[in-house]
Amino acid sequence: METMTLWSFILFKIVFSIIFVPLTFAQLDSNLPNFPGDLTSSFCPTTPRDDCEVEVDVPEGCESSATSKSSCPIVFFLHGANNNNNEYKCTTEVHDVKYIGVYVQGEKGWNTWPKTWNNCNWDDFDCTQDPDEVGFFIELIRFLRNKGANGNIYLVGTSNGGSLAHKLASNADQDLPIKGIVSKVFQLLRKPERSFPGMKNYNQPSQARGTWPVSVLSILGEDDRDVPYDGGYTALFNIEIDTYPYYENFRGIFELMSGLESMETWASHNKCDGSYVITNHTATVWDVERIASKYDYSNGCPSDIYLEQYVLLETRHDAKDAIIEGNPINFDITYEFIEKVEKGASIVPSIAPSESLTQAPSGSKYRNCVDQPGYEFELQFSGAMKPCSWIMENINKISVRRDNYCYENNGMDISDVGYDCQWSCDTCGASRPTPAPVSCSKLDIDINIDNSVNDNILLVKRWDPSTGKFSDRIFKRGKAKFNTPNGSYRYEIDCLYPTIECYLFLLKDVTEDGFTNGSGSFTVELDGNVLKSSTFSGAKAKNLKRQRKKFGQCA
Ligand SMILES: *[C@@H]1O[C@H](CO)[C@@H](O)[C@H](O)[C@H]1NC(C)=O
Ligand SMILES: *[C@@H]1O[C@H](CO)[C@@H](O)[C@H](O)[C@H]1NC(C)=O
Ligand SMILES: *[C@@H]1O[C@H](CO)[C@@H](O)[C@H](O)[C@H]1NC(C)=O
Repeated sequence: METMTLWSFILFKIVFSIIFVPLTFAQLDSNLPNFPGDLTSSFCPTTPRDDCEVEVDVPEGCESSATSKSSCPIVFFLHGANNNNNEYKCTTEVHDVKYIGVYVQGEKGWNTWPKTWNNCNWDDFDCTQDPDEVGFFIELIRFLRNKGANGNIYLVGTSNGGSLAHKLASNADQDLPIKGIVSKVFQLLRKPERSFPGMKNYNQPSQARGTWPVSVLSILGEDDRDVPYDGGYTALFNIEIDTYPYYENFRGIFELMSGLESMETWASHNKCDGSYVITNHTATVWDVERIASKYDYSNGCPSDIYLEQYVLLETRHDAKDAIIEGNPINFDITYEFIEKVEKGASIVPSIAPSESLTQAPSGSKYRNCVDQPGYEFELQFSGAMKPCSWIMENINKISVRRDNYCYENNGMDISDVGYDCQWSCDTCGASRPTPAPVSCSKLDIDINIDNSVNDNILLVKRWDPSTGKFSDRIFKRGKAKFNTPNGSYRYEIDCLYPTIECYLFLLKDVTEDGFTNGSGSFTVELDGNVLKSSTFSGAKAKNLKRQRKKFGQCA
Protein backbone atom coordinates (compact mmCIF):
# COMPACT_ATOMS: atom_id res chain seq x y z
CA MET A 1 0.00 0.00 0.00
CA GLU A 2 2.77 2.36 1.01
CA THR A 3 4.76 1.50 -2.11
CA MET A 4 1.76 1.90 -4.40
CA THR A 5 1.09 5.35 -3.09
CA LEU A 6 4.70 6.34 -3.46
CA TRP A 7 4.86 5.00 -7.02
CA SER A 8 1.68 6.70 -8.11
CA PHE A 9 3.01 9.90 -6.60
CA ILE A 10 6.29 9.63 -8.52
CA LEU A 11 4.43 8.73 -11.71
CA PHE A 12 2.14 11.70 -11.20
CA LYS A 13 5.15 13.96 -10.72
CA ILE A 14 6.79 12.68 -13.91
CA VAL A 15 3.65 12.99 -16.02
CA PHE A 16 2.91 16.35 -14.49
CA SER A 17 6.34 17.74 -15.27
CA ILE A 18 6.40 16.39 -18.84
CA ILE A 19 3.01 17.81 -19.67
CA PHE A 20 3.00 21.08 -17.83
CA VAL A 21 6.52 22.28 -17.17
CA PRO A 22 7.32 23.44 -20.71
CA LEU A 23 3.94 25.11 -21.14
CA THR A 24 3.06 26.90 -17.96
CA PHE A 25 6.10 26.75 -15.73
CA ALA A 26 8.74 28.12 -17.98
CA GLN A 27 8.23 31.86 -18.23
CA LEU A 28 7.17 35.07 -16.55
CA ASP A 29 5.35 37.50 -18.81
CA SER A 30 5.10 41.19 -18.10
CA ASN A 31 1.72 42.67 -17.23
CA LEU A 32 0.08 46.10 -17.12
CA PRO A 33 0.39 48.02 -13.85
CA ASN A 34 -2.25 46.91 -11.29
CA PHE A 35 -2.91 43.64 -13.14
CA PRO A 36 -0.39 41.13 -11.76
CA GLY A 37 -0.25 37.62 -13.12
CA ASP A 38 -1.98 35.08 -10.90
CA LEU A 39 0.29 32.08 -10.38
CA THR A 40 -1.94 30.53 -7.74
CA SER A 41 -3.11 27.67 -9.95
CA SER A 42 0.40 26.72 -11.03
CA PHE A 43 2.21 27.08 -7.70
CA CYS A 44 -0.31 26.52 -4.93
CA PRO A 45 -1.75 23.07 -5.69
CA THR A 46 1.57 21.46 -4.76
CA THR A 47 1.62 23.17 -1.36
CA PRO A 48 -0.35 21.97 1.66
CA ARG A 49 -1.65 25.47 2.35
CA ASP A 50 -5.34 26.47 2.42
CA ASP A 51 -5.02 30.20 1.78
CA CYS A 52 -2.12 30.00 -0.67
CA GLU A 53 -2.24 32.69 -3.32
CA VAL A 54 0.64 34.05 -5.41
CA GLU A 55 0.47 37.11 -7.62
CA VAL A 56 3.51 38.21 -9.58
CA ASP A 57 3.69 41.77 -10.89
CA VAL A 58 6.17 41.92 -13.76
CA PRO A 59 7.01 45.30 -15.30
CA GLU A 60 7.95 45.61 -18.94
CA GLY A 61 11.64 44.77 -19.27
CA CYS A 62 11.58 42.27 -16.38
CA GLU A 63 9.94 39.38 -18.23
CA SER A 64 11.96 36.20 -18.24
CA SER A 65 12.05 32.59 -19.26
CA ALA A 66 14.21 29.60 -18.44
CA THR A 67 16.58 30.58 -21.26
CA SER A 68 16.35 34.37 -21.05
CA LYS A 69 16.90 35.46 -17.47
CA SER A 70 15.81 38.71 -15.86
CA SER A 71 17.93 40.43 -13.24
CA CYS A 72 15.25 42.84 -12.01
CA PRO A 73 15.16 42.79 -8.20
CA ILE A 74 12.41 40.52 -6.83
CA VAL A 75 10.49 42.02 -3.91
CA PHE A 76 8.18 39.90 -1.77
CA PHE A 77 5.51 41.93 0.05
CA LEU A 78 4.40 40.31 3.32
CA HIS A 79 1.12 41.38 4.90
CA GLY A 80 0.29 41.58 8.61
CA ALA A 81 -1.65 39.14 10.81
CA ASN A 82 -5.21 38.38 9.66
CA ASN A 83 -4.60 40.61 6.68
CA ASN A 84 -4.22 39.72 3.04
CA ASN A 85 -2.32 40.49 -0.12
CA ASN A 86 -5.24 42.22 -1.88
CA GLU A 87 -4.08 45.79 -1.96
CA TYR A 88 -0.46 45.34 -2.99
CA LYS A 89 -1.26 45.26 -6.69
CA CYS A 90 -2.70 48.74 -6.38
CA THR A 91 -0.13 50.28 -4.08
CA THR A 92 3.39 49.01 -4.72
CA GLU A 93 3.97 50.71 -8.08
CA VAL A 94 6.76 48.28 -8.91
CA HIS A 95 6.40 49.22 -12.58
CA ASP A 96 7.92 52.62 -11.87
CA VAL A 97 11.05 51.11 -10.36
CA LYS A 98 11.26 47.94 -12.46
CA TYR A 99 11.05 45.45 -9.62
CA ILE A 100 9.21 42.17 -9.84
CA GLY A 101 6.60 42.35 -7.06
CA VAL A 102 5.45 39.10 -5.47
CA TYR A 103 2.24 39.29 -3.44
CA VAL A 104 1.86 36.15 -1.37
CA GLN A 105 -1.04 35.19 0.84
CA GLY A 106 -0.16 33.68 4.21
CA GLU A 107 -2.29 31.33 6.31
CA LYS A 108 -4.25 33.97 8.29
CA GLY A 109 -0.89 35.64 8.78
CA TRP A 110 2.50 34.02 9.21
CA ASN A 111 3.63 31.36 11.63
CA THR A 112 6.13 33.39 13.62
CA TRP A 113 4.43 33.40 17.00
CA PRO A 114 1.84 31.08 18.63
CA LYS A 115 -1.45 31.15 16.74
CA THR A 116 -4.75 29.73 17.94
CA TRP A 117 -5.19 27.83 14.68
CA ASN A 118 -1.96 25.86 14.92
CA ASN A 119 -2.41 22.14 15.55
CA CYS A 120 0.99 21.24 16.97
CA ASN A 121 3.13 22.59 19.75
CA TRP A 122 5.52 25.38 18.83
CA ASP A 123 8.49 23.03 19.42
CA ASP A 124 7.19 20.14 17.30
CA PHE A 125 9.50 20.87 14.37
CA ASP A 126 8.40 17.75 12.46
CA CYS A 127 4.74 18.77 12.49
CA THR A 128 3.21 18.64 9.01
CA GLN A 129 -0.14 20.25 9.83
CA ASP A 130 1.02 23.80 10.50
CA PRO A 131 2.69 26.18 8.06
CA ASP A 132 6.44 25.75 7.50
CA GLU A 133 7.08 29.32 6.39
CA VAL A 134 10.74 29.01 5.45
CA GLY A 135 10.09 25.83 3.45
CA PHE A 136 7.27 27.60 1.62
CA PHE A 137 9.46 30.53 0.55
CA ILE A 138 12.28 28.22 -0.51
CA GLU A 139 9.82 26.46 -2.86
CA LEU A 140 8.47 29.78 -4.11
CA ILE A 141 11.92 31.15 -4.87
CA ARG A 142 12.88 27.93 -6.68
CA PHE A 143 9.67 28.26 -8.71
CA LEU A 144 10.53 31.83 -9.75
CA ARG A 145 14.17 31.02 -10.48
CA ASN A 146 12.99 28.22 -12.77
CA LYS A 147 11.08 30.83 -14.70
CA GLY A 148 14.26 32.82 -15.21
CA ALA A 149 13.71 35.46 -12.49
CA ASN A 150 17.30 35.78 -11.38
CA GLY A 151 17.41 39.16 -9.63
CA ASN A 152 18.35 39.80 -6.02
CA ILE A 153 15.68 38.95 -3.48
CA TYR A 154 14.16 41.42 -1.01
CA LEU A 155 11.40 41.12 1.57
CA VAL A 156 9.16 44.00 2.61
CA GLY A 157 6.98 43.04 5.56
CA THR A 158 4.57 44.76 7.92
CA SER A 159 3.99 43.64 11.53
CA ASN A 160 3.49 39.84 11.37
CA GLY A 161 5.01 40.12 7.85
CA GLY A 162 7.89 42.16 9.31
CA SER A 163 8.44 39.39 11.82
CA LEU A 164 8.48 36.86 8.97
CA ALA A 165 11.03 39.00 7.09
CA HIS A 166 13.40 38.74 10.10
CA LYS A 167 12.76 35.00 10.35
CA LEU A 168 13.36 34.27 6.67
CA ALA A 169 16.49 36.45 6.68
CA SER A 170 17.72 34.53 9.75
CA ASN A 171 17.77 31.44 7.52
CA ALA A 172 19.26 33.10 4.42
CA ASP A 173 21.43 30.72 2.40
CA GLN A 174 21.77 29.39 -1.16
CA ASP A 175 18.17 28.14 -1.08
CA LEU A 176 16.89 31.38 0.39
CA PRO A 177 19.24 33.98 -1.12
CA ILE A 178 17.84 37.09 0.58
CA LYS A 179 19.80 40.26 -0.15
CA GLY A 180 17.86 42.67 2.06
CA ILE A 181 14.74 43.15 4.15
CA VAL A 182 12.54 46.08 5.08
CA SER A 183 10.84 45.11 8.31
CA LYS A 184 8.13 47.37 9.66
CA VAL A 185 7.01 47.37 13.31
CA PHE A 186 8.61 44.10 14.39
CA GLN A 187 12.00 43.15 15.79
CA LEU A 188 13.89 39.87 15.89
CA LEU A 189 12.71 37.38 18.49
CA ARG A 190 15.12 36.92 21.40
CA LYS A 191 13.55 33.55 22.19
CA PRO A 192 13.09 30.79 21.24
CA GLU A 193 15.98 29.78 19.00
CA ARG A 194 13.70 27.73 16.75
CA SER A 195 9.94 27.49 16.45
CA PHE A 196 7.24 25.85 14.33
CA PRO A 197 7.71 23.26 11.61
CA GLY A 198 10.67 22.95 9.31
CA MET A 199 14.36 22.24 9.14
CA LYS A 200 15.22 25.91 8.73
CA ASN A 201 13.04 27.43 11.40
CA TYR A 202 15.63 29.53 13.23
CA ASN A 203 14.63 32.88 14.66
CA GLN A 204 18.04 34.56 14.78
CA PRO A 205 20.85 34.69 12.20
CA SER A 206 24.05 32.79 12.96
CA GLN A 207 27.49 32.84 11.38
CA ALA A 208 28.11 29.38 12.83
CA ARG A 209 25.11 28.02 10.95
CA GLY A 210 26.29 29.83 7.82
CA THR A 211 23.46 32.38 7.55
CA TRP A 212 24.25 34.79 4.72
CA PRO A 213 24.72 38.49 5.51
CA VAL A 214 21.53 40.53 4.91
CA SER A 215 20.98 44.30 4.68
CA VAL A 216 18.21 45.49 7.01
CA LEU A 217 15.98 48.56 7.14
CA SER A 218 13.86 48.51 10.29
CA ILE A 219 10.99 50.87 11.16
CA LEU A 220 9.63 50.84 14.72
CA GLY A 221 7.31 52.88 16.92
CA GLU A 222 8.78 53.95 20.25
CA ASP A 223 5.37 53.63 21.94
CA ASP A 224 4.13 50.55 20.11
CA ARG A 225 1.68 48.74 22.41
CA ASP A 226 1.55 45.59 20.30
CA VAL A 227 5.25 45.19 19.67
CA PRO A 228 7.04 47.01 22.50
CA TYR A 229 10.17 48.82 21.41
CA ASP A 230 11.94 47.74 24.59
CA GLY A 231 11.35 44.12 23.72
CA GLY A 232 10.39 41.31 26.05
CA TYR A 233 6.91 39.94 26.31
CA THR A 234 3.91 41.05 24.25
CA ALA A 235 0.26 40.12 24.63
CA LEU A 236 0.40 38.86 21.04
CA PHE A 237 1.97 35.70 22.44
CA ASN A 238 -0.98 35.11 24.76
CA ILE A 239 -3.44 32.89 22.93
CA GLU A 240 -6.51 30.84 23.44
CA ILE A 241 -5.75 27.19 22.84
CA ASP A 242 -8.66 25.87 20.82
CA THR A 243 -8.16 22.29 21.77
CA TYR A 244 -8.03 22.96 25.52
CA PRO A 245 -10.25 25.18 27.58
CA TYR A 246 -7.51 27.51 28.72
CA TYR A 247 -5.23 30.27 27.66
CA GLU A 248 -1.53 29.86 27.32
CA ASN A 249 0.57 32.99 27.56
CA PHE A 250 3.97 31.63 26.41
CA ARG A 251 5.62 34.01 28.85
CA GLY A 252 9.31 33.21 29.11
CA ILE A 253 9.15 31.08 25.95
CA PHE A 254 8.56 33.76 23.29
CA GLU A 255 10.31 37.09 23.75
CA LEU A 256 11.15 40.05 21.53
CA MET A 257 14.52 41.73 21.30
CA SER A 258 14.49 45.47 21.87
CA GLY A 259 14.80 47.64 18.76
CA LEU A 260 18.51 48.26 19.22
CA GLU A 261 19.28 44.70 20.34
CA SER A 262 17.72 43.53 17.08
CA MET A 263 19.97 45.92 15.10
CA GLU A 264 23.05 44.95 17.12
CA THR A 265 22.34 41.30 16.34
CA TRP A 266 22.24 42.04 12.62
CA ALA A 267 25.29 44.33 12.88
CA SER A 268 27.36 41.68 14.57
CA HIS A 269 26.10 38.97 12.21
CA ASN A 270 26.95 41.10 9.16
CA LYS A 271 30.45 41.84 10.49
CA CYS A 272 29.74 45.53 11.07
CA ASP A 273 31.63 47.21 13.92
CA GLY A 274 28.36 48.13 15.66
CA SER A 275 28.90 51.90 15.59
CA TYR A 276 26.02 54.05 14.43
CA VAL A 277 25.11 57.65 13.68
CA ILE A 278 21.82 59.08 15.02
CA THR A 279 20.03 61.82 13.12
CA ASN A 280 16.57 63.27 13.76
CA HIS A 281 14.09 63.76 10.95
CA THR A 282 10.70 65.41 10.72
CA ALA A 283 7.94 62.93 10.10
CA THR A 284 4.17 62.58 10.04
CA VAL A 285 2.07 59.58 10.95
CA TRP A 286 -1.51 59.93 9.73
CA ASP A 287 -1.07 63.72 9.62
CA VAL A 288 0.29 63.91 13.18
CA GLU A 289 3.78 65.42 13.40
CA ARG A 290 6.45 63.16 14.84
CA ILE A 291 10.21 62.86 15.05
CA ALA A 292 11.95 59.93 13.40
CA SER A 293 15.33 59.10 14.94
CA LYS A 294 17.46 57.29 12.41
CA TYR A 295 20.15 54.89 13.60
CA ASP A 296 22.53 54.27 10.72
CA TYR A 297 25.07 51.46 11.19
CA SER A 298 26.14 51.32 7.55
CA ASN A 299 29.45 53.19 7.87
CA GLY A 300 30.83 50.47 10.12
CA CYS A 301 29.65 47.69 7.81
CA PRO A 302 31.22 45.88 4.85
CA SER A 303 30.70 48.00 1.73
CA ASP A 304 27.71 46.09 0.36
CA ILE A 305 25.77 45.97 3.65
CA TYR A 306 23.32 48.63 4.78
CA LEU A 307 21.75 48.64 8.24
CA GLU A 308 19.32 51.34 9.27
CA GLN A 309 16.58 51.77 11.82
CA TYR A 310 13.99 54.54 12.04
CA VAL A 311 12.41 54.89 15.47
CA LEU A 312 9.23 56.97 15.31
CA LEU A 313 9.14 58.75 18.66
CA GLU A 314 5.85 58.77 20.62
CA THR A 315 4.32 56.55 17.94
CA ARG A 316 2.44 53.29 18.18
CA HIS A 317 2.03 50.44 15.72
CA ASP A 318 1.02 52.84 12.95
CA ALA A 319 4.69 53.85 12.69
CA LYS A 320 4.47 51.54 9.67
CA ASP A 321 2.65 54.29 7.75
CA ALA A 322 5.08 57.11 8.57
CA ILE A 323 6.13 59.74 6.08
CA ILE A 324 9.70 60.87 6.81
CA GLU A 325 10.95 64.19 5.41
CA GLY A 326 8.05 64.05 2.97
CA ASN A 327 8.90 60.53 1.76
CA PRO A 328 6.47 57.74 2.65
CA ILE A 329 8.01 54.55 4.02
CA ASN A 330 5.50 52.84 1.70
CA PHE A 331 7.29 52.78 -0.61
CA ASP A 332 9.68 55.67 -1.38
CA ILE A 333 12.00 55.03 1.57
CA THR A 334 11.68 51.28 1.06
CA TYR A 335 12.73 51.52 -2.60
CA GLU A 336 15.46 54.05 -1.88
CA PHE A 337 16.93 51.43 0.48
CA ILE A 338 16.64 48.65 -2.08
CA GLU A 339 18.30 50.88 -4.72
CA LYS A 340 21.21 51.50 -2.33
CA VAL A 341 21.66 47.79 -1.69
CA GLU A 342 21.40 47.10 -5.43
CA LYS A 343 24.16 49.61 -6.18
CA GLY A 344 26.40 48.09 -3.53
CA ALA A 345 25.48 44.55 -4.51
CA SER A 346 28.02 42.77 -6.64
CA ILE A 347 25.73 41.14 -9.15
CA VAL A 348 26.99 39.96 -12.46
CA PRO A 349 24.57 41.12 -15.13
CA SER A 350 23.23 38.01 -16.82
CA ILE A 351 22.77 39.88 -20.10
CA ALA A 352 26.02 41.24 -21.52
CA PRO A 353 25.85 44.65 -23.23
CA SER A 354 25.37 44.21 -26.95
CA GLU A 355 27.63 45.91 -29.49
CA SER A 356 24.85 48.05 -30.84
CA LEU A 357 24.34 49.67 -27.46
CA THR A 358 27.93 50.67 -26.92
CA GLN A 359 28.53 52.09 -30.39
CA ALA A 360 26.77 55.12 -31.79
CA PRO A 361 24.51 53.98 -34.59
CA SER A 362 25.11 55.51 -37.99
CA GLY A 363 22.48 56.79 -40.35
CA SER A 364 20.88 60.15 -40.94
CA LYS A 365 18.23 59.69 -38.24
CA TYR A 366 20.90 59.76 -35.58
CA ARG A 367 23.20 62.40 -37.02
CA ASN A 368 22.37 64.98 -34.37
CA CYS A 369 21.91 62.51 -31.62
CA VAL A 370 24.54 63.39 -29.05
CA ASP A 371 24.84 63.99 -25.33
CA GLN A 372 25.81 67.48 -24.19
CA PRO A 373 29.45 67.11 -23.11
CA GLY A 374 29.98 68.16 -19.51
CA TYR A 375 26.28 68.14 -18.66
CA GLU A 376 25.47 66.76 -15.21
CA PHE A 377 22.20 66.20 -13.39
CA GLU A 378 21.21 65.44 -9.81
CA LEU A 379 20.08 62.00 -8.63
CA GLN A 380 16.67 61.88 -6.96
CA PHE A 381 17.60 60.14 -3.74
CA SER A 382 21.24 60.73 -3.05
CA GLY A 383 21.52 64.16 -4.65
CA ALA A 384 24.81 63.10 -6.30
CA MET A 385 25.65 64.67 -9.69
CA LYS A 386 25.96 62.31 -12.67
CA PRO A 387 26.88 62.72 -16.35
CA CYS A 388 24.66 61.45 -19.17
CA SER A 389 26.72 58.28 -19.53
CA TRP A 390 25.54 57.14 -16.07
CA ILE A 391 22.12 56.41 -17.56
CA MET A 392 23.58 53.59 -19.66
CA GLU A 393 26.35 52.52 -17.31
CA ASN A 394 24.46 49.51 -15.96
CA ILE A 395 22.73 47.53 -18.67
CA ASN A 396 20.12 46.23 -16.24
CA LYS A 397 19.07 49.68 -15.19
CA ILE A 398 18.87 51.50 -18.50
CA SER A 399 15.12 51.47 -18.77
CA VAL A 400 14.55 52.42 -15.10
CA ARG A 401 17.01 55.28 -15.34
CA ARG A 402 15.54 56.52 -18.60
CA ASP A 403 12.06 56.39 -17.09
CA ASN A 404 13.22 58.23 -13.97
CA TYR A 405 15.32 60.94 -15.52
CA CYS A 406 14.65 61.33 -19.24
CA TYR A 407 10.93 62.00 -18.99
CA GLU A 408 8.72 64.27 -16.95
CA ASN A 409 6.50 62.88 -14.21
CA ASN A 410 3.74 62.22 -16.72
CA GLY A 411 6.05 59.65 -18.29
CA MET A 412 5.57 61.14 -21.77
CA ASP A 413 7.15 64.58 -22.08
CA ILE A 414 10.88 64.68 -22.46
CA SER A 415 12.65 66.28 -19.49
CA ASP A 416 15.67 68.61 -19.51
CA VAL A 417 17.87 65.57 -18.92
CA GLY A 418 16.20 63.93 -21.91
CA TYR A 419 17.14 66.89 -24.13
CA ASP A 420 20.68 67.21 -22.85
CA CYS A 421 21.38 63.48 -22.83
CA GLN A 422 19.74 62.61 -26.15
CA TRP A 423 21.88 59.62 -26.93
CA SER A 424 21.83 58.10 -23.44
CA CYS A 425 18.14 58.81 -23.07
CA ASP A 426 17.24 57.49 -26.49
CA THR A 427 15.24 60.63 -27.12
CA CYS A 428 16.72 61.27 -30.54
CA GLY A 429 13.57 62.30 -32.31
CA ALA A 430 11.85 59.01 -31.64
CA SER A 431 8.55 59.53 -29.86
CA ARG A 432 7.73 57.37 -26.93
CA PRO A 433 4.89 54.87 -27.20
CA THR A 434 1.88 55.88 -25.14
CA PRO A 435 1.37 53.52 -22.23
CA ALA A 436 -1.98 51.78 -22.18
CA PRO A 437 -4.32 53.67 -19.85
CA VAL A 438 -5.36 51.97 -16.63
CA SER A 439 -8.72 53.11 -15.43
CA CYS A 440 -8.18 53.29 -11.73
CA SER A 441 -10.57 55.32 -9.60
CA LYS A 442 -9.83 57.14 -6.38
CA LEU A 443 -12.08 57.33 -3.35
CA ASP A 444 -11.63 60.30 -1.00
CA ILE A 445 -13.15 60.10 2.45
CA ASP A 446 -13.24 63.23 4.54
CA ILE A 447 -14.61 62.68 8.00
CA ASN A 448 -15.04 64.77 11.14
CA ILE A 449 -15.96 62.77 14.13
CA ASP A 450 -15.33 63.22 17.83
CA ASN A 451 -13.97 60.70 20.27
CA SER A 452 -16.83 60.78 22.73
CA VAL A 453 -18.09 57.60 21.14
CA ASN A 454 -15.07 55.63 20.11
CA ASP A 455 -16.81 52.67 18.61
CA ASN A 456 -17.36 53.95 15.10
CA ILE A 457 -15.96 51.92 12.25
CA LEU A 458 -15.34 53.04 8.71
CA LEU A 459 -15.23 50.32 6.07
CA VAL A 460 -14.92 50.03 2.32
CA LYS A 461 -15.70 46.59 0.98
CA ARG A 462 -15.87 44.93 -2.40
CA TRP A 463 -18.63 42.61 -3.54
CA ASP A 464 -17.26 39.12 -4.06
CA PRO A 465 -19.49 37.28 -6.55
CA SER A 466 -18.14 33.93 -5.34
CA THR A 467 -19.53 34.48 -1.83
CA GLY A 468 -22.43 36.72 -2.85
CA LYS A 469 -21.41 39.20 -0.15
CA PHE A 470 -19.34 42.28 0.42
CA SER A 471 -16.72 39.96 1.84
CA ASP A 472 -13.61 41.55 0.47
CA ARG A 473 -12.45 44.23 2.89
CA ILE A 474 -10.44 46.93 1.19
CA PHE A 475 -10.15 49.51 3.92
CA LYS A 476 -10.90 49.76 7.62
CA ARG A 477 -10.48 52.43 10.24
CA GLY A 478 -11.98 52.16 13.66
CA LYS A 479 -11.79 52.74 17.35
CA ALA A 480 -8.24 53.73 18.15
CA LYS A 481 -7.81 55.51 14.83
CA PHE A 482 -10.54 58.06 15.62
CA ASN A 483 -8.78 59.25 18.70
CA THR A 484 -8.68 63.03 18.73
CA PRO A 485 -11.47 65.32 20.00
CA ASN A 486 -13.60 66.38 17.05
CA GLY A 487 -10.88 65.06 14.79
CA SER A 488 -10.70 65.59 11.10
CA TYR A 489 -9.49 62.57 9.12
CA ARG A 490 -8.87 62.22 5.42
CA TYR A 491 -8.31 58.96 3.64
CA GLU A 492 -7.48 58.27 0.03
CA ILE A 493 -8.11 54.85 -1.42
CA ASP A 494 -6.47 54.38 -4.77
CA CYS A 495 -7.08 51.86 -7.41
CA LEU A 496 -10.74 50.95 -7.25
CA TYR A 497 -12.46 49.66 -10.38
CA PRO A 498 -16.06 50.89 -10.15
CA THR A 499 -16.62 50.32 -13.88
CA ILE A 500 -16.36 46.58 -13.33
CA GLU A 501 -16.83 46.01 -9.60
CA CYS A 502 -19.32 46.81 -6.87
CA TYR A 503 -18.26 48.47 -3.61
CA LEU A 504 -19.78 49.47 -0.31
CA PHE A 505 -18.88 52.45 1.84
CA LEU A 506 -20.01 51.87 5.40
CA LEU A 507 -19.76 54.01 8.51
CA LYS A 508 -21.24 52.11 11.41
CA ASP A 509 -21.62 52.46 15.10
CA VAL A 510 -20.92 49.13 16.70
CA THR A 511 -22.61 49.70 20.05
CA GLU A 512 -25.54 51.56 18.47
CA ASP A 513 -25.45 54.55 20.79
CA GLY A 514 -25.13 57.04 17.97
CA PHE A 515 -22.22 58.37 15.97
CA THR A 516 -21.28 61.13 18.37
CA ASN A 517 -22.54 63.08 21.37
CA GLY A 518 -21.38 66.28 19.67
CA SER A 519 -21.39 67.01 15.99
CA GLY A 520 -19.68 65.68 12.93
CA SER A 521 -19.76 65.21 9.20
CA PHE A 522 -18.43 63.13 6.36
CA THR A 523 -18.09 63.33 2.60
CA VAL A 524 -17.22 60.49 0.25
CA GLU A 525 -16.04 61.34 -3.23
CA LEU A 526 -15.27 59.08 -6.16
CA ASP A 527 -12.85 60.72 -8.59
CA GLY A 528 -13.92 64.11 -7.24
CA ASN A 529 -17.69 63.50 -7.51
CA VAL A 530 -19.63 63.44 -4.25
CA LEU A 531 -21.21 60.04 -3.59
CA LYS A 532 -22.59 60.83 -0.17
CA SER A 533 -22.25 63.63 2.31
CA SER A 534 -23.81 64.22 5.70
CA THR A 535 -23.54 66.46 8.73
CA PHE A 536 -25.00 65.53 12.06
CA SER A 537 -25.32 66.95 15.56
CA GLY A 538 -27.54 66.75 18.62
CA ALA A 539 -30.37 64.23 18.47
CA LYS A 540 -29.63 63.36 14.83
CA ALA A 541 -26.05 62.39 15.63
CA LYS A 542 -27.20 60.27 18.55
CA ASN A 543 -29.72 58.45 16.37
CA LEU A 544 -27.43 57.75 13.44
CA LYS A 545 -26.28 54.16 13.66
CA ARG A 546 -25.02 53.50 10.17
CA GLN A 547 -24.45 55.23 6.86
CA ARG A 548 -24.05 53.19 3.68
CA LYS A 549 -23.42 53.88 0.05
CA LYS A 550 -23.07 51.28 -2.65
CA PHE A 551 -21.22 52.36 -5.74
CA GLY A 552 -19.73 50.95 -8.89
CA GLN A 553 -21.13 48.15 -11.02
CA CYS A 554 -23.66 46.66 -8.61
CA ALA A 555 -26.37 44.18 -9.52
C1 LIG B 1 16.24 63.67 18.66
O1 LIG B 1 15.06 64.16 19.25
C2 LIG B 1 14.82 63.67 20.56
C3 LIG B 1 13.46 64.17 21.02
O2 LIG B 1 13.34 65.56 20.85
C4 LIG B 1 15.95 64.12 21.48
O3 LIG B 1 15.74 63.60 22.77
C5 LIG B 1 17.26 63.60 20.93
O4 LIG B 1 18.34 64.07 21.70
C6 LIG B 1 17.45 64.04 19.49
N1 LIG B 1 18.63 63.39 18.96
C7 LIG B 1 19.47 64.01 18.16
C8 LIG B 1 20.61 63.20 17.67
O5 LIG B 1 19.32 65.17 17.83
C1 LIG C 1 -21.79 60.28 25.32
O1 LIG C 1 -23.04 59.72 25.67
C2 LIG C 1 -23.00 58.49 26.39
C3 LIG C 1 -24.40 57.99 26.64
O2 LIG C 1 -25.33 58.59 25.85
C4 LIG C 1 -22.24 58.70 27.69
O3 LIG C 1 -22.11 57.46 28.36
C5 LIG C 1 -20.87 59.27 27.40
O4 LIG C 1 -20.20 59.56 28.61
C6 LIG C 1 -20.96 60.54 26.57
N1 LIG C 1 -19.63 60.99 26.24
C7 LIG C 1 -19.24 62.25 26.37
C8 LIG C 1 -17.81 62.54 26.08
O5 LIG C 1 -20.02 63.13 26.69
C1 LIG D 1 -16.82 69.59 15.28
O1 LIG D 1 -16.74 69.47 13.85
C2 LIG D 1 -17.91 69.88 13.17
C3 LIG D 1 -17.77 69.53 11.70
O2 LIG D 1 -16.59 70.06 11.17
C4 LIG D 1 -18.12 71.37 13.42
O3 LIG D 1 -19.28 71.80 12.73
C5 LIG D 1 -18.30 71.61 14.91
O4 LIG D 1 -18.40 72.96 15.18
C6 LIG D 1 -17.11 71.01 15.70
N1 LIG D 1 -17.46 71.03 17.11
C7 LIG D 1 -16.63 71.46 18.05
C8 LIG D 1 -17.12 71.37 19.45
O5 LIG D 1 -15.51 71.91 17.78
